[in-house]
Amino acid sequence: MKKTKFKSKEKKKNLHRIMPLLKIHKMRFFFAILCMLLIAGTSAALAWIVKPVLDDVFIKKDIDKLYLISTSLITIFFIKGAAAFMHVYLMTYIGQHIVKALRDKLYNAIMDLPISFFHKETTGALMSRITYDVNIVKDMLSTAVTNIGRDFFTIVCLTILILYQDWKMALIAIIVLPIAFFPVFILGRWVRKISSMVQNAMGKLNIFLHETFAGNKIIKAFGTEEFEKKRFIKKSDELLKMEMKAVVPDKGGSAIIEFFTGFGIAAVIFYGGLRVIQNEMTPGTFFSFITAVGLLYDPIRRTAPLNSVIQRGLAAIERIFDIIEKKSDIKEAENPVFIKNKINDIIFKDISFGYSDKEFVLRNIEVKVKAGEKLALAGTSGGGKTSFVNLIPRFYDATEGSLLIDGINVKDVSLKSLRKNIAIVTQEPILFNDTIKNNISYGKTNASDQDIEDAAKAAFAFDFIKEFPQGFDTNIGELGGRLSGGEKQRICIARALLKNAPILILDEATSSLDANAEMLVQEALENLMKGRTAFIIAHRLSTIRYADRILVFEKGKIIEQGNHDQLIRKQGTYYKLYKMQTKGSEKKIKLIIT
Ligand SMILES: Nc1ncnc2c1ncn2[C@@H]1O[C@H](COP(=O)(O)OP(=O)(O)OP(=O)(O)O)[C@@H](O)[C@H]1O
Ligand SMILES: [Mg+2]
Repeated sequence: MKKTKFKSKEKKKNLHRIMPLLKIHKMRFFFAILCMLLIAGTSAALAWIVKPVLDDVFIKKDIDKLYLISTSLITIFFIKGAAAFMHVYLMTYIGQHIVKALRDKLYNAIMDLPISFFHKETTGALMSRITYDVNIVKDMLSTAVTNIGRDFFTIVCLTILILYQDWKMALIAIIVLPIAFFPVFILGRWVRKISSMVQNAMGKLNIFLHETFAGNKIIKAFGTEEFEKKRFIKKSDELLKMEMKAVVPDKGGSAIIEFFTGFGIAAVIFYGGLRVIQNEMTPGTFFSFITAVGLLYDPIRRTAPLNSVIQRGLAAIERIFDIIEKKSDIKEAENPVFIKNKINDIIFKDISFGYSDKEFVLRNIEVKVKAGEKLALAGTSGGGKTSFVNLIPRFYDATEGSLLIDGINVKDVSLKSLRKNIAIVTQEPILFNDTIKNNISYGKTNASDQDIEDAAKAAFAFDFIKEFPQGFDTNIGELGGRLSGGEKQRICIARALLKNAPILILDEATSSLDANAEMLVQEALENLMKGRTAFIIAHRLSTIRYADRILVFEKGKIIEQGNHDQLIRKQGTYYKLYKMQTKGSEKKIKLIIT
Protein backbone atom coordinates (compact mmCIF):
# COMPACT_ATOMS: atom_id res chain seq x y z
CA MET A 1 0.00 0.00 0.00
CA LYS A 2 2.77 2.33 0.99
CA LYS A 3 4.61 1.47 -2.17
CA THR A 4 1.68 2.44 -4.43
CA LYS A 5 1.27 5.71 -2.62
CA PHE A 6 4.90 6.46 -3.13
CA LYS A 7 4.66 5.59 -6.79
CA SER A 8 1.70 7.83 -7.48
CA LYS A 9 3.47 10.63 -5.68
CA GLU A 10 6.48 10.06 -7.90
CA LYS A 11 4.26 10.15 -10.95
CA LYS A 12 2.76 13.46 -9.88
CA LYS A 13 6.24 14.77 -9.23
CA ASN A 14 7.32 13.82 -12.73
CA LEU A 15 4.35 15.54 -14.31
CA HIS A 16 4.93 18.50 -12.08
CA ARG A 17 8.48 18.72 -13.39
CA ILE A 18 7.39 19.45 -16.96
CA MET A 19 4.49 21.72 -15.93
CA PRO A 20 6.47 24.97 -16.27
CA LEU A 21 7.30 23.95 -19.83
CA LEU A 22 3.61 23.29 -20.55
CA LYS A 23 2.44 26.56 -19.03
CA ILE A 24 4.18 28.65 -21.71
CA HIS A 25 1.74 27.23 -24.25
CA LYS A 26 -1.45 28.08 -22.33
CA MET A 27 -3.22 29.83 -25.23
CA ARG A 28 -2.37 27.10 -27.71
CA PHE A 29 -3.69 24.58 -25.22
CA PHE A 30 -6.89 26.53 -24.93
CA PHE A 31 -7.43 26.45 -28.71
CA ALA A 32 -6.44 22.81 -28.85
CA ILE A 33 -9.10 22.05 -26.24
CA LEU A 34 -11.66 23.96 -28.30
CA CYS A 35 -10.73 21.77 -31.26
CA MET A 36 -11.03 18.67 -29.07
CA LEU A 37 -14.54 19.74 -28.08
CA LEU A 38 -15.47 20.22 -31.72
CA ILE A 39 -14.11 16.78 -32.63
CA ALA A 40 -16.00 15.18 -29.75
CA GLY A 41 -19.20 17.09 -30.60
CA THR A 42 -19.08 16.14 -34.28
CA SER A 43 -18.45 12.47 -33.40
CA ALA A 44 -21.57 12.46 -31.24
CA ALA A 45 -23.49 14.27 -34.00
CA LEU A 46 -22.47 11.55 -36.49
CA ALA A 47 -23.77 8.84 -34.22
CA TRP A 48 -26.93 10.76 -33.55
CA ILE A 49 -27.67 11.37 -37.25
CA VAL A 50 -27.89 7.61 -37.86
CA LYS A 51 -31.31 7.65 -36.17
CA PRO A 52 -33.08 10.07 -38.64
CA VAL A 53 -31.28 8.35 -41.54
CA LEU A 54 -32.88 5.04 -40.65
CA ASP A 55 -36.21 6.13 -39.16
CA ASP A 56 -37.05 9.13 -41.43
CA VAL A 57 -35.27 8.32 -44.70
CA PHE A 58 -35.27 4.53 -44.89
CA ILE A 59 -38.52 3.76 -43.13
CA LYS A 60 -40.67 6.94 -43.57
CA LYS A 61 -39.05 7.83 -46.96
CA ASP A 62 -38.98 11.58 -46.12
CA ILE A 63 -37.13 13.34 -48.99
CA ASP A 64 -36.80 16.72 -47.18
CA LYS A 65 -35.01 15.02 -44.32
CA LEU A 66 -32.66 13.39 -46.85
CA TYR A 67 -31.59 16.84 -48.17
CA LEU A 68 -31.19 18.16 -44.67
CA ILE A 69 -29.19 15.14 -43.50
CA SER A 70 -26.88 15.26 -46.54
CA THR A 71 -26.01 18.92 -46.10
CA SER A 72 -25.64 18.45 -42.33
CA LEU A 73 -23.22 15.57 -42.94
CA ILE A 74 -21.06 17.69 -45.23
CA THR A 75 -20.94 20.43 -42.61
CA ILE A 76 -20.18 17.98 -39.78
CA PHE A 77 -17.34 16.31 -41.69
CA PHE A 78 -15.91 19.68 -42.69
CA ILE A 79 -15.86 20.91 -39.07
CA LYS A 80 -14.48 17.58 -37.85
CA GLY A 81 -11.70 17.57 -40.44
CA ALA A 82 -10.69 21.18 -39.81
CA ALA A 83 -10.76 20.74 -36.03
CA ALA A 84 -8.76 17.50 -36.22
CA PHE A 85 -6.09 19.17 -38.33
CA MET A 86 -5.85 22.23 -36.08
CA HIS A 87 -5.79 20.02 -33.02
CA VAL A 88 -2.94 17.86 -34.31
CA TYR A 89 -1.04 20.91 -35.50
CA LEU A 90 -1.32 22.72 -32.17
CA MET A 91 -0.49 19.68 -30.08
CA THR A 92 2.48 18.75 -32.25
CA TYR A 93 3.68 22.33 -32.01
CA ILE A 94 3.43 22.23 -28.23
CA GLY A 95 5.01 18.75 -28.02
CA GLN A 96 7.95 19.57 -30.26
CA HIS A 97 8.62 22.87 -28.48
CA ILE A 98 8.55 21.21 -25.07
CA VAL A 99 10.94 18.55 -26.28
CA LYS A 100 13.30 21.18 -27.63
CA ALA A 101 13.11 23.09 -24.34
CA LEU A 102 13.78 19.86 -22.46
CA ARG A 103 16.73 18.98 -24.66
CA ASP A 104 18.22 22.47 -24.27
CA LYS A 105 17.62 22.46 -20.54
CA LEU A 106 19.31 19.08 -20.22
CA TYR A 107 22.33 20.19 -22.25
CA ASN A 108 22.65 23.40 -20.25
CA ALA A 109 22.41 21.47 -17.01
CA ILE A 110 25.08 19.00 -18.13
CA MET A 111 27.39 21.84 -19.20
CA ASP A 112 27.10 23.40 -15.75
CA LEU A 113 28.01 20.20 -13.93
CA PRO A 114 31.52 19.87 -12.54
CA ILE A 115 34.30 17.78 -14.01
CA SER A 116 33.78 15.12 -11.35
CA PHE A 117 30.38 14.43 -12.91
CA PHE A 118 31.96 13.72 -16.29
CA HIS A 119 34.38 11.36 -14.64
CA LYS A 120 31.54 9.40 -13.10
CA GLU A 121 29.09 9.41 -16.03
CA THR A 122 30.07 8.02 -19.38
CA THR A 123 29.76 9.96 -22.62
CA GLY A 124 27.59 7.27 -24.15
CA ALA A 125 25.11 7.33 -21.26
CA LEU A 126 24.82 11.10 -21.42
CA MET A 127 24.28 11.02 -25.15
CA SER A 128 21.60 8.43 -24.66
CA ARG A 129 19.74 10.82 -22.33
CA ILE A 130 19.74 13.62 -24.89
CA THR A 131 18.84 11.52 -27.90
CA TYR A 132 16.90 8.45 -26.74
CA ASP A 133 15.23 9.57 -23.50
CA VAL A 134 14.19 12.97 -24.83
CA ASN A 135 12.62 11.25 -27.82
CA ILE A 136 10.57 9.02 -25.56
CA VAL A 137 9.19 12.13 -23.91
CA LYS A 138 8.46 13.43 -27.39
CA ASP A 139 6.47 10.27 -28.13
CA MET A 140 4.57 10.74 -24.93
CA LEU A 141 3.73 14.36 -25.68
CA SER A 142 3.01 14.03 -29.36
CA THR A 143 0.91 10.87 -29.28
CA ALA A 144 -0.34 10.48 -25.77
CA VAL A 145 -1.13 14.05 -24.77
CA THR A 146 -2.55 14.75 -28.22
CA ASN A 147 -4.91 11.82 -28.09
CA ILE A 148 -5.85 11.91 -24.46
CA GLY A 149 -7.69 15.23 -24.52
CA ARG A 150 -9.50 14.48 -27.73
CA ASP A 151 -10.44 11.00 -26.60
CA PHE A 152 -11.56 12.20 -23.21
CA PHE A 153 -14.02 14.70 -24.65
CA THR A 154 -15.20 12.22 -27.25
CA ILE A 155 -15.87 9.66 -24.54
CA VAL A 156 -17.79 12.24 -22.45
CA CYS A 157 -19.94 13.44 -25.36
CA LEU A 158 -20.76 9.94 -26.58
CA THR A 159 -21.53 8.73 -23.06
CA ILE A 160 -23.96 11.61 -22.61
CA LEU A 161 -25.56 10.76 -25.96
CA ILE A 162 -26.08 7.07 -25.19
CA LEU A 163 -27.36 7.85 -21.68
CA TYR A 164 -29.84 10.25 -23.26
CA GLN A 165 -30.87 7.72 -25.88
CA ASP A 166 -31.42 4.80 -23.55
CA TRP A 167 -29.92 4.86 -20.10
CA LYS A 168 -30.46 1.19 -19.30
CA MET A 169 -28.75 0.04 -22.46
CA ALA A 170 -26.05 2.66 -21.89
CA LEU A 171 -25.30 1.23 -18.46
CA ILE A 172 -24.79 -2.21 -20.02
CA ALA A 173 -22.31 -0.67 -22.45
CA ILE A 174 -20.46 1.30 -19.80
CA ILE A 175 -20.35 -1.28 -17.04
CA VAL A 176 -17.67 -3.35 -18.82
CA LEU A 177 -15.27 -0.40 -18.88
CA PRO A 178 -14.03 -0.28 -15.27
CA ILE A 179 -13.56 -4.05 -15.41
CA ALA A 180 -11.49 -3.65 -18.56
CA PHE A 181 -9.46 -0.73 -17.25
CA PHE A 182 -8.31 -2.26 -14.02
CA PRO A 183 -5.85 -4.73 -15.57
CA VAL A 184 -4.68 -2.03 -17.98
CA PHE A 185 -3.54 0.18 -15.12
CA ILE A 186 -1.82 -2.71 -13.43
CA LEU A 187 -0.02 -3.48 -16.69
CA GLY A 188 0.88 0.22 -17.03
CA ARG A 189 2.97 0.08 -13.90
CA TRP A 190 4.72 -2.96 -15.20
CA VAL A 191 5.45 -1.13 -18.47
CA ARG A 192 7.04 1.72 -16.58
CA LYS A 193 9.36 -0.55 -14.67
CA ILE A 194 10.45 -2.43 -17.77
CA SER A 195 10.84 0.72 -19.80
CA SER A 196 13.22 2.07 -17.17
CA MET A 197 15.23 -1.08 -17.69
CA VAL A 198 15.09 -0.71 -21.49
CA GLN A 199 16.34 2.86 -21.23
CA ASN A 200 19.18 1.66 -19.03
CA ALA A 201 20.09 -1.08 -21.47
CA MET A 202 19.99 1.48 -24.28
CA GLY A 203 22.35 3.70 -22.28
CA LYS A 204 24.73 0.79 -21.79
CA LEU A 205 24.69 0.05 -25.48
CA ASN A 206 25.52 3.67 -26.26
CA ILE A 207 28.42 3.65 -23.82
CA PHE A 208 29.75 0.57 -25.54
CA LEU A 209 29.34 2.05 -29.02
CA HIS A 210 31.07 5.27 -28.08
CA GLU A 211 33.99 3.43 -26.53
CA THR A 212 34.53 0.95 -29.34
CA PHE A 213 34.27 3.57 -32.08
CA ALA A 214 36.57 6.02 -30.33
CA GLY A 215 39.01 3.29 -29.29
CA ASN A 216 38.89 1.42 -32.59
CA LYS A 217 42.62 1.75 -33.14
CA ILE A 218 43.37 -0.32 -30.05
CA ILE A 219 40.75 -2.90 -31.02
CA LYS A 220 42.46 -3.33 -34.38
CA ALA A 221 45.93 -3.36 -32.83
CA PHE A 222 44.98 -6.05 -30.35
CA GLY A 223 42.93 -7.94 -32.91
CA THR A 224 39.90 -7.97 -30.63
CA GLU A 225 37.26 -7.29 -33.29
CA GLU A 226 35.61 -10.68 -32.78
CA PHE A 227 35.71 -10.25 -29.00
CA GLU A 228 34.03 -6.85 -29.28
CA LYS A 229 31.48 -8.18 -31.76
CA LYS A 230 30.55 -10.87 -29.27
CA ARG A 231 30.30 -8.31 -26.47
CA PHE A 232 28.08 -6.14 -28.66
CA ILE A 233 25.81 -9.04 -29.54
CA LYS A 234 25.48 -9.84 -25.85
CA LYS A 235 24.46 -6.28 -25.07
CA SER A 236 22.18 -6.15 -28.09
CA ASP A 237 20.62 -9.42 -26.90
CA GLU A 238 20.00 -7.91 -23.49
CA LEU A 239 18.23 -4.98 -25.11
CA LEU A 240 16.17 -7.31 -27.26
CA LYS A 241 15.15 -9.32 -24.19
CA MET A 242 14.08 -6.18 -22.39
CA GLU A 243 12.12 -4.93 -25.39
CA MET A 244 10.42 -8.30 -25.70
CA LYS A 245 9.62 -8.31 -22.00
CA ALA A 246 7.81 -5.04 -22.53
CA VAL A 247 5.60 -6.44 -25.29
CA VAL A 248 3.25 -8.44 -23.04
CA PRO A 249 2.27 -5.59 -20.72
CA ASP A 250 2.48 -3.11 -23.57
CA LYS A 251 0.19 -4.88 -26.01
CA GLY A 252 -1.61 -7.09 -23.50
CA GLY A 253 -3.64 -4.10 -22.33
CA SER A 254 -5.10 -3.60 -25.81
CA ALA A 255 -6.05 -7.27 -26.02
CA ILE A 256 -7.86 -7.14 -22.68
CA ILE A 257 -9.78 -4.02 -23.66
CA GLU A 258 -10.61 -5.51 -27.04
CA PHE A 259 -12.12 -8.56 -25.33
CA PHE A 260 -14.21 -6.57 -22.87
CA THR A 261 -15.48 -4.10 -25.45
CA GLY A 262 -16.46 -7.01 -27.70
CA PHE A 263 -18.33 -8.42 -24.74
CA GLY A 264 -20.02 -5.04 -24.22
CA ILE A 265 -21.11 -4.73 -27.85
CA ALA A 266 -22.51 -8.27 -27.85
CA ALA A 267 -24.49 -7.51 -24.68
CA VAL A 268 -25.86 -4.28 -26.13
CA ILE A 269 -26.84 -5.93 -29.43
CA PHE A 270 -28.54 -8.77 -27.59
CA TYR A 271 -30.50 -6.49 -25.26
CA GLY A 272 -31.22 -3.82 -27.93
CA GLY A 273 -32.18 -6.48 -30.48
CA LEU A 274 -34.70 -7.96 -28.06
CA ARG A 275 -36.28 -4.53 -27.57
CA VAL A 276 -36.48 -3.88 -31.34
CA ILE A 277 -38.12 -7.29 -31.81
CA GLN A 278 -40.58 -6.42 -29.04
CA ASN A 279 -41.19 -3.03 -30.79
CA GLU A 280 -39.96 -1.09 -27.78
CA MET A 281 -37.26 0.59 -29.82
CA THR A 282 -37.04 1.89 -33.41
CA PRO A 283 -34.30 0.44 -35.64
CA GLY A 284 -33.00 4.04 -36.00
CA THR A 285 -32.46 4.44 -32.26
CA PHE A 286 -30.86 1.00 -32.12
CA PHE A 287 -28.34 1.64 -34.90
CA SER A 288 -27.66 5.16 -33.71
CA PHE A 289 -26.95 3.67 -30.28
CA ILE A 290 -24.66 0.96 -31.68
CA THR A 291 -22.78 3.58 -33.73
CA ALA A 292 -22.30 5.71 -30.62
CA VAL A 293 -21.04 2.71 -28.63
CA GLY A 294 -18.70 1.79 -31.48
CA LEU A 295 -17.34 5.34 -31.56
CA LEU A 296 -17.11 5.35 -27.77
CA TYR A 297 -15.10 2.13 -27.62
CA ASP A 298 -12.68 3.32 -30.23
CA PRO A 299 -10.87 5.88 -28.03
CA ILE A 300 -11.15 3.47 -25.11
CA ARG A 301 -9.29 0.84 -27.11
CA ARG A 302 -6.57 3.39 -27.72
CA THR A 303 -6.17 4.03 -24.01
CA ALA A 304 -4.10 0.94 -23.26
CA PRO A 305 -1.24 1.70 -25.65
CA LEU A 306 -1.48 5.36 -24.58
CA ASN A 307 -1.00 4.32 -21.00
CA SER A 308 2.19 2.48 -21.99
CA VAL A 309 3.54 5.47 -23.86
CA ILE A 310 2.79 7.68 -20.85
CA GLN A 311 4.45 5.28 -18.43
CA ARG A 312 7.52 5.13 -20.63
CA GLY A 313 7.54 8.92 -20.93
CA LEU A 314 7.32 9.33 -17.17
CA ALA A 315 10.28 7.01 -16.69
CA ALA A 316 12.26 9.07 -19.21
CA ILE A 317 11.27 12.36 -17.55
CA GLU A 318 12.55 10.95 -14.28
CA ARG A 319 15.90 10.09 -15.83
CA ILE A 320 16.20 13.46 -17.54
CA PHE A 321 15.29 15.49 -14.48
CA ASP A 322 17.62 13.48 -12.29
CA ILE A 323 20.37 15.26 -14.20
CA ILE A 324 18.65 18.63 -14.61
CA GLU A 325 18.07 18.84 -10.88
CA LYS A 326 21.56 17.70 -9.95
CA LYS A 327 23.29 20.31 -7.90
CA SER A 328 26.86 21.09 -8.80
CA ASP A 329 29.18 21.00 -5.82
CA ILE A 330 31.39 23.57 -7.54
CA LYS A 331 29.01 26.43 -6.95
CA GLU A 332 29.22 30.14 -7.61
CA ALA A 333 29.28 32.03 -4.30
CA GLU A 334 26.22 34.10 -3.45
CA ASN A 335 28.13 37.36 -3.59
CA PRO A 336 31.13 36.42 -5.67
CA VAL A 337 34.29 38.52 -5.67
CA PHE A 338 35.47 39.49 -9.14
CA ILE A 339 39.16 39.49 -9.85
CA LYS A 340 39.84 42.94 -11.23
CA ASN A 341 43.44 43.67 -10.42
CA LYS A 342 46.60 41.71 -10.87
CA ILE A 343 46.72 38.65 -8.64
CA ASN A 344 49.49 38.95 -6.05
CA ASP A 345 49.64 35.55 -4.47
CA ILE A 346 48.06 32.12 -4.46
CA ILE A 347 48.20 30.21 -1.19
CA PHE A 348 47.49 26.52 -0.66
CA LYS A 349 46.66 26.44 3.01
CA ASP A 350 46.89 23.00 4.60
CA ILE A 351 45.08 21.44 1.67
CA SER A 352 44.08 17.80 1.55
CA PHE A 353 42.12 16.43 -1.35
CA GLY A 354 40.62 13.14 -2.45
CA TYR A 355 38.47 12.15 -5.44
CA SER A 356 36.45 10.00 -3.08
CA ASP A 357 35.92 10.19 0.67
CA LYS A 358 38.03 7.11 1.16
CA GLU A 359 41.46 8.21 0.14
CA PHE A 360 43.35 11.48 -0.08
CA VAL A 361 45.57 11.99 -3.11
CA LEU A 362 46.93 15.26 -1.72
CA ARG A 363 47.81 15.59 1.94
CA ASN A 364 48.47 18.71 4.00
CA ILE A 365 49.77 20.77 1.12
CA GLU A 366 51.20 24.09 2.21
CA VAL A 367 52.42 26.29 -0.68
CA LYS A 368 52.61 30.02 -1.25
CA VAL A 369 53.03 31.15 -4.83
CA LYS A 370 53.96 34.76 -5.50
CA ALA A 371 52.84 36.64 -8.61
CA GLY A 372 55.25 36.07 -11.46
CA GLU A 373 56.78 32.98 -9.90
CA LYS A 374 57.52 30.00 -12.10
CA LEU A 375 56.67 26.97 -10.07
CA ALA A 376 57.55 23.57 -11.41
CA LEU A 377 55.98 20.32 -10.25
CA ALA A 378 57.94 17.12 -10.52
CA GLY A 379 57.81 13.68 -8.96
CA THR A 380 56.53 10.19 -9.41
CA SER A 381 53.64 9.34 -11.67
CA GLY A 382 50.39 9.44 -9.73
CA GLY A 383 52.06 11.65 -7.14
CA GLY A 384 49.30 14.25 -7.29
CA LYS A 385 50.64 16.96 -9.62
CA THR A 386 47.63 17.14 -11.92
CA SER A 387 45.32 16.96 -8.92
CA PHE A 388 47.22 19.89 -7.38
CA VAL A 389 46.83 22.18 -10.39
CA ASN A 390 43.20 21.07 -10.86
CA LEU A 391 42.36 22.91 -7.67
CA ILE A 392 43.40 26.30 -9.06
CA PRO A 393 40.63 26.70 -11.70
CA ARG A 394 38.29 24.87 -9.28
CA PHE A 395 37.91 21.78 -11.44
CA TYR A 396 37.72 20.27 -7.99
CA ASP A 397 37.47 21.82 -4.55
CA ALA A 398 39.85 20.92 -1.76
CA THR A 399 38.39 18.43 0.69
CA GLU A 400 40.18 20.05 3.62
CA GLY A 401 42.02 23.35 3.94
CA SER A 402 41.60 26.29 1.61
CA LEU A 403 42.99 27.82 -1.52
CA LEU A 404 43.41 31.58 -1.21
CA ILE A 405 43.81 34.04 -4.06
CA ASP A 406 45.00 37.37 -2.68
CA GLY A 407 43.68 36.25 0.67
CA ILE A 408 40.19 35.44 -0.67
CA ASN A 409 39.01 31.86 -0.53
CA VAL A 410 38.75 30.66 -4.09
CA LYS A 411 35.20 29.45 -3.33
CA ASP A 412 34.16 33.10 -2.88
CA VAL A 413 35.66 34.21 -6.17
CA SER A 414 33.44 34.37 -9.22
CA LEU A 415 34.10 31.19 -11.22
CA LYS A 416 34.00 33.02 -14.52
CA SER A 417 36.50 35.66 -13.51
CA LEU A 418 38.74 33.04 -11.90
CA ARG A 419 38.85 30.89 -15.02
CA LYS A 420 39.30 33.95 -17.22
CA ASN A 421 42.57 34.53 -15.41
CA ILE A 422 43.90 31.05 -16.07
CA ALA A 423 45.24 29.59 -19.29
CA ILE A 424 45.74 25.88 -19.24
CA VAL A 425 47.38 23.22 -21.37
CA THR A 426 46.07 19.91 -20.11
CA GLN A 427 47.93 16.64 -19.97
CA GLU A 428 45.73 15.17 -22.70
CA PRO A 429 45.53 17.54 -25.67
CA ILE A 430 41.84 18.29 -26.08
CA LEU A 431 40.78 19.84 -29.39
CA PHE A 432 37.46 20.14 -31.19
CA ASN A 433 36.26 18.97 -34.58
CA ASP A 434 36.77 22.36 -36.21
CA THR A 435 39.38 24.35 -38.13
CA ILE A 436 42.82 25.06 -36.70
CA LYS A 437 41.91 28.72 -36.61
CA ASN A 438 38.79 28.17 -34.55
CA ASN A 439 40.63 25.80 -32.24
CA ILE A 440 43.34 28.35 -31.51
CA SER A 441 40.86 31.17 -31.01
CA TYR A 442 38.54 28.96 -28.93
CA GLY A 443 36.73 31.10 -26.37
CA LYS A 444 38.14 34.23 -27.95
CA THR A 445 35.93 34.86 -30.90
CA ASN A 446 37.13 38.45 -31.27
CA ALA A 447 40.74 37.41 -31.96
CA SER A 448 42.07 38.78 -35.26
CA ASP A 449 43.78 36.58 -37.85
CA GLN A 450 47.02 38.30 -36.95
CA ASP A 451 46.62 37.40 -33.25
CA ILE A 452 45.96 33.78 -34.19
CA GLU A 453 49.01 33.67 -36.45
CA ASP A 454 51.19 35.24 -33.76
CA ALA A 455 50.05 32.66 -31.21
CA ALA A 456 50.73 29.86 -33.70
CA LYS A 457 54.19 31.29 -34.38
CA ALA A 458 55.00 31.54 -30.69
CA ALA A 459 53.93 27.93 -30.21
CA PHE A 460 56.06 26.90 -33.19
CA ALA A 461 52.96 25.62 -34.91
CA PHE A 462 52.93 28.12 -37.77
CA ASP A 463 55.22 26.16 -40.09
CA PHE A 464 53.33 22.91 -40.03
CA ILE A 465 49.98 24.70 -40.27
CA LYS A 466 51.15 26.54 -43.38
CA GLU A 467 52.05 23.25 -45.00
CA PHE A 468 48.45 22.05 -44.91
CA PRO A 469 46.71 22.86 -48.21
CA GLN A 470 44.01 24.75 -46.38
CA GLY A 471 46.34 26.27 -43.78
CA PHE A 472 44.53 27.69 -40.78
CA ASP A 473 41.20 26.61 -42.27
CA THR A 474 42.12 22.92 -42.11
CA ASN A 475 39.60 20.85 -40.21
CA ILE A 476 41.45 18.71 -37.69
CA GLY A 477 38.81 16.03 -37.15
CA GLU A 478 37.24 14.73 -33.98
CA LEU A 479 39.44 15.54 -30.98
CA GLY A 480 42.13 16.68 -33.42
CA GLY A 481 42.46 13.13 -34.73
CA ARG A 482 44.08 14.25 -37.99
CA LEU A 483 47.09 15.79 -36.24
CA SER A 484 50.18 14.19 -34.80
CA GLY A 485 50.62 14.18 -31.02
CA GLY A 486 53.19 16.97 -31.11
CA GLU A 487 51.11 19.03 -33.52
CA LYS A 488 48.10 18.71 -31.26
CA GLN A 489 50.14 19.87 -28.31
CA ARG A 490 51.41 22.91 -30.15
CA ILE A 491 47.85 23.90 -31.13
CA CYS A 492 46.90 23.59 -27.45
CA ILE A 493 49.84 25.77 -26.48
CA ALA A 494 48.88 28.35 -29.13
CA ARG A 495 45.35 28.36 -27.75
CA ALA A 496 46.65 28.98 -24.23
CA LEU A 497 48.99 31.69 -25.49
CA LEU A 498 46.19 33.51 -27.23
CA LYS A 499 44.13 33.53 -24.06
CA ASN A 500 46.81 35.72 -22.57
CA ALA A 501 45.90 35.04 -18.95
CA PRO A 502 48.04 36.01 -15.93
CA ILE A 503 48.11 32.44 -14.56
CA LEU A 504 49.44 29.69 -16.75
CA ILE A 505 49.13 25.97 -16.08
CA LEU A 506 51.15 23.66 -18.26
CA ASP A 507 50.59 19.98 -17.54
CA GLU A 508 53.15 18.04 -19.57
CA ALA A 509 52.64 20.62 -22.30
CA THR A 510 55.75 19.70 -24.25
CA SER A 511 55.91 15.97 -23.59
CA SER A 512 55.00 14.95 -27.16
CA LEU A 513 57.56 17.19 -28.83
CA ASP A 514 60.95 16.14 -30.11
CA ALA A 515 64.00 17.59 -28.39
CA ASN A 516 64.43 20.32 -31.00
CA ALA A 517 60.79 21.42 -31.06
CA GLU A 518 60.69 21.25 -27.29
CA MET A 519 63.63 23.59 -27.00
CA LEU A 520 61.99 26.07 -29.34
CA VAL A 521 58.59 25.85 -27.65
CA GLN A 522 60.34 26.13 -24.32
CA GLU A 523 61.81 29.41 -25.43
CA ALA A 524 58.41 30.64 -26.53
CA LEU A 525 56.90 29.57 -23.25
CA GLU A 526 59.62 31.32 -21.31
CA ASN A 527 58.84 34.49 -23.19
CA LEU A 528 55.22 34.03 -22.50
CA MET A 529 55.74 33.27 -18.84
CA LYS A 530 57.45 36.57 -18.20
CA GLY A 531 55.38 38.51 -15.74
CA ARG A 532 52.94 35.63 -15.31
CA THR A 533 52.50 33.09 -12.59
CA ALA A 534 53.17 29.68 -14.04
CA PHE A 535 52.65 26.13 -12.87
CA ILE A 536 54.67 23.77 -14.99
CA ILE A 537 54.41 20.01 -14.70
CA ALA A 538 57.02 17.97 -16.53
CA HIS A 539 58.51 14.55 -16.25
CA ARG A 540 61.45 15.60 -18.37
CA LEU A 541 63.36 17.49 -15.74
CA SER A 542 65.44 19.36 -18.29
CA THR A 543 62.28 21.35 -19.06
CA ILE A 544 61.91 22.64 -15.54
CA ARG A 545 65.53 23.25 -14.62
CA TYR A 546 65.10 26.95 -14.85
CA ALA A 547 61.98 27.26 -12.76
CA ASP A 548 62.13 29.56 -9.72
CA ARG A 549 61.08 26.72 -7.50
CA ILE A 550 60.50 23.03 -7.96
CA LEU A 551 58.01 21.05 -5.84
CA VAL A 552 58.63 17.34 -5.75
CA PHE A 553 55.47 15.27 -5.25
CA GLU A 554 55.31 11.75 -3.95
CA LYS A 555 52.15 9.95 -2.84
CA GLY A 556 50.26 13.22 -2.44
CA LYS A 557 52.89 14.97 -0.41
CA ILE A 558 55.47 17.59 -1.26
CA ILE A 559 58.63 15.86 -0.17
CA GLU A 560 61.18 18.41 -1.39
CA GLN A 561 61.22 21.92 -2.67
CA GLY A 562 63.78 24.45 -3.85
CA ASN A 563 65.42 25.48 -7.10
CA HIS A 564 67.30 23.05 -9.29
CA ASP A 565 70.71 23.70 -7.78
CA GLN A 566 69.44 23.45 -4.21
CA LEU A 567 67.68 20.18 -4.91
CA ILE A 568 70.71 18.73 -6.66
CA ARG A 569 72.87 19.69 -3.69
CA LYS A 570 70.38 18.07 -1.37
CA GLN A 571 70.90 14.75 -3.14
CA GLY A 572 67.36 13.58 -2.39
CA THR A 573 64.58 12.27 -4.66
CA TYR A 574 64.89 15.05 -7.25
CA TYR A 575 68.62 14.41 -7.48
CA LYS A 576 67.98 10.70 -8.03
CA LEU A 577 65.36 11.36 -10.70
CA TYR A 578 67.61 13.85 -12.41
CA LYS A 579 70.57 11.51 -12.34
CA MET A 580 68.47 8.71 -13.79
CA GLN A 581 67.29 10.88 -16.66
CA THR A 582 70.68 12.30 -17.50
CA LYS A 583 72.30 8.90 -17.16
CA GLY A 584 69.77 7.56 -19.62
CA SER A 585 70.64 10.20 -22.16
CA GLU A 586 74.38 9.70 -21.58
CA LYS A 587 73.87 6.00 -22.23
CA LYS A 588 71.90 6.76 -25.36
CA ILE A 589 74.64 9.06 -26.62
CA LYS A 590 77.21 6.38 -25.92
CA LEU A 591 75.15 3.83 -27.80
CA ILE A 592 74.84 6.13 -30.78
CA ILE A 593 78.58 6.81 -30.84
CA THR A 594 79.65 3.19 -30.52
N1 LIG B 1 39.27 11.41 -11.66
C1 LIG B 1 39.89 10.67 -10.74
N2 LIG B 1 39.17 9.90 -9.91
C2 LIG B 1 39.76 9.14 -8.97
N3 LIG B 1 41.07 9.09 -8.77
C3 LIG B 1 41.86 9.84 -9.54
C4 LIG B 1 41.32 10.66 -10.57
N4 LIG B 1 42.33 11.30 -11.19
C5 LIG B 1 43.46 10.89 -10.58
N5 LIG B 1 43.18 10.02 -9.59
C6 LIG B 1 44.16 9.39 -8.67
O1 LIG B 1 44.81 10.42 -7.96
C7 LIG B 1 46.18 10.16 -7.82
C8 LIG B 1 46.98 11.35 -8.28
O2 LIG B 1 46.77 11.53 -9.66
P1 LIG B 1 47.35 12.73 -10.49
O3 LIG B 1 46.71 12.68 -11.83
O4 LIG B 1 47.22 13.96 -9.71
O5 LIG B 1 48.90 12.30 -10.59
P2 LIG B 1 50.05 12.99 -11.39
O6 LIG B 1 51.09 13.35 -10.38
O7 LIG B 1 49.54 14.06 -12.25
O8 LIG B 1 50.56 11.77 -12.26
P3 LIG B 1 51.18 11.78 -13.75
O9 LIG B 1 52.55 12.31 -13.62
O10 LIG B 1 51.19 10.35 -14.12
O11 LIG B 1 50.31 12.61 -14.59
C9 LIG B 1 46.45 8.90 -8.59
O12 LIG B 1 46.60 7.87 -7.65
C10 LIG B 1 45.24 8.68 -9.44
O13 LIG B 1 44.96 7.32 -9.55
MG1 LIG C 1 49.29 14.25 -14.28
